[in-house]
Amino acid sequence: MGLISPATVDRILDAARIEEVVGEFVTLKRSGGSFRGLSPFTQEKTPSFYVVPSKGIFKCFSSGKGGSVVTFLMEHEQLSYPDALRWLAKKYQIEIEEEETSPEQDAVRDRRESMFALNAFALKQFSEWMWNDDHGRAVGLAYFRERGFTDETLRKFELGFHLEGRDTFAKAAATAGYQAEFLEATGLCIKRDSGELIDRFWGRAMFPIHSLSGRVVGFGGRVLRSDAKTAKYLNSPESDIYHKSQVLYGLFQAKQAISRSNKVYLVEGYTDVISMHQAGVHNVVSSSGTALTLEQIRLVKRLTEHVTLLYDGDKAGIRASFRGIDLLLEEGLYVRAVPLPAGEDPDSLARSMDAESLNAFLTEHEVDFMQFKVEALTDEGAAQDPIRRAEVVRDIVQSVAKIPNAILREVYLRDSAQRLGIDERNLHAEMERIRGAELKNASQRRPERDPYEDPTPPEMQVQRPQAPRPMAVEDALVRVLLQHGSDRVKWTGPDGLEHEDAAAALILDDLSADELAFGHEPYQRIYHEMLAVWSAEERILGPEHFVRHEDPNLASTAAECLTERHQLADWSRKSIYIGSIEDQLSNHVHECLLRFKEHRLEDRIREAVAALSALTDPLEREAKLSEFVRIQALRNALRAELQRVV
Ligand code: CTP
Ligand code: MN
Repeated sequence: MGLISPATVDRILDAARIEEVVGEFVTLKRSGGSFRGLSPFTQEKTPSFYVVPSKGIFKCFSSGKGGSVVTFLMEHEQLSYPDALRWLAKKYQIEIEEEETSPEQDAVRDRRESMFALNAFALKQFSEWMWNDDHGRAVGLAYFRERGFTDETLRKFELGFHLEGRDTFAKAAATAGYQAEFLEATGLCIKRDSGELIDRFWGRAMFPIHSLSGRVVGFGGRVLRSDAKTAKYLNSPESDIYHKSQVLYGLFQAKQAISRSNKVYLVEGYTDVISMHQAGVHNVVSSSGTALTLEQIRLVKRLTEHVTLLYDGDKAGIRASFRGIDLLLEEGLYVRAVPLPAGEDPDSLARSMDAESLNAFLTEHEVDFMQFKVEALTDEGAAQDPIRRAEVVRDIVQSVAKIPNAILREVYLRDSAQRLGIDERNLHAEMERIRGAELKNASQRRPERDPYEDPTPPEMQVQRPQAPRPMAVEDALVRVLLQHGSDRVKWTGPDGLEHEDAAAALILDDLSADELAFGHEPYQRIYHEMLAVWSAEERILGPEHFVRHEDPNLASTAAECLTERHQLADWSRKSIYIGSIEDQLSNHVHECLLRFKEHRLEDRIREAVAALSALTDPLEREAKLSEFVRIQALRNALRAELQRVV
């Protein structure tokens, strides 16, 4: 697929009705001109989720999310921007026109699409063989039922069975018109030296592996005969569409539960995911036999920052948990674990109890990573042996040292000092030593961490980390820009004559002349985009441009500006009583502008004062002082003017 053409994007957005799309996921009730429902992003009890069809936006007051129908799909379904558009195109039966792409781009795209198409065919074939073929039912279906999987579970995870034979699948695919090239490329078949294609997964129970948007990128196949001298699981090889390190098994089925519960359980295997799901725990994914990777962690991080490891209780499982813990901590996630009894895995645990007991077990036994490590390590060896103890201490401190957030590091260090009965200062020294060494390595290995990362530890957060609220004055001004940008307002020019102009024109010209900026970053970007288009084309970008914005952050900000519960003023209604709509809006625009400028000048006065106290050179002080006086005079003039307007 190429780029979706702008004309198509417009047609899709014009056709899409936000209340219909959101209504597929959220039960909405009409209230006046808008709709209300329970937030799909949190577990609220009273509805604070709004859809305003007239503006084409949604706003969720409990999570802070908001934006257009596209933003909704991106957030709720975890789709990319183009995939959200494709979703809508499909729903509204709009044909997608694509932009011209180069032949090489087409070739790569066609190849990947052919592989996806073949995998989709394979999925159907394996399912067909399991549900409808006599042998498949007797072997494949019987196996899954034996394991306790219900039909509903089998369908949800699209499990299947691969018939025996040397090339049963290869033949079926060829008959259906699929080319040999792609049979090999997807790894469904293996090419012998003779050129002959044979099936990779024959006789196995099939677990399809989905991408985040639900396409099949590969398969895992489990052997069914216990006497077989072959690996228990075989997996699709790496390919153009399957990158093991970037996929988490079960994420497609779990993504909504993860973002809703703001937590994910990480398990080791396919069957762990499926059994937990069947037992009612839906926020669970697996790295499926490979060590957890950075890419996988980042996938999860888009949905939640809270990860609970649920690995086998054996030595290998504990070792794997330890590796996982360090990597997760390093990425700034909050890590917990549920130690499992030796010999159990999440699959066996989930099957040994009902949903309620499983939930109770998970809640009761969950500990933070620190406690998990301390217990696992002290169980492993002699608790009294001082040398072993020193090793335990070092091991724990090593994990704490990985936490990027300084405050959180302190919290955990204090905790571990208490747990281990060791003076905190000793731990500190040890940690600084480790961090010193590691930071040196890291700086050669990886780019800088995002400086805007939220530094608040979870205990201090009310909800998910959010940007600090912008000042009220900035709020008011950006709202005018978005809500009334094209409305006419009056102003008096330097010539003393009265002029009339669009509100946005007045504001943009005024702010840019003084080179003023918004402090709140999304506001500054809205202002900047408006200014760029205004300067280049004398055109004013309307709110629809921003709520449809490709950057979900901007779309959400714009939506918020259009949906605040306490609207600043409803000009059309107020005007019945006092003055004309135009006069009122003019006054409001002037007031917002003046307040904004006053605010900026206050900032500059503060800066000047700080600078003054740092200067010793009399000439420099003199210069700063006169600047200070000038700003103050400006500010006073502004205040006087404000008094006239208000
Ligand atoms: N795995 C693999 N290849 C193997 C063994 C394991 O790819 N030879 C992966 C699979 O994704 C598997 C996971 O590692 O699900 C965990 O392995 P294991 O605990 O041995 O398998 P289970 O999921 O417990 O499988 P089962 O219950 O079917 O025996
Ligand atoms: Mn198992």
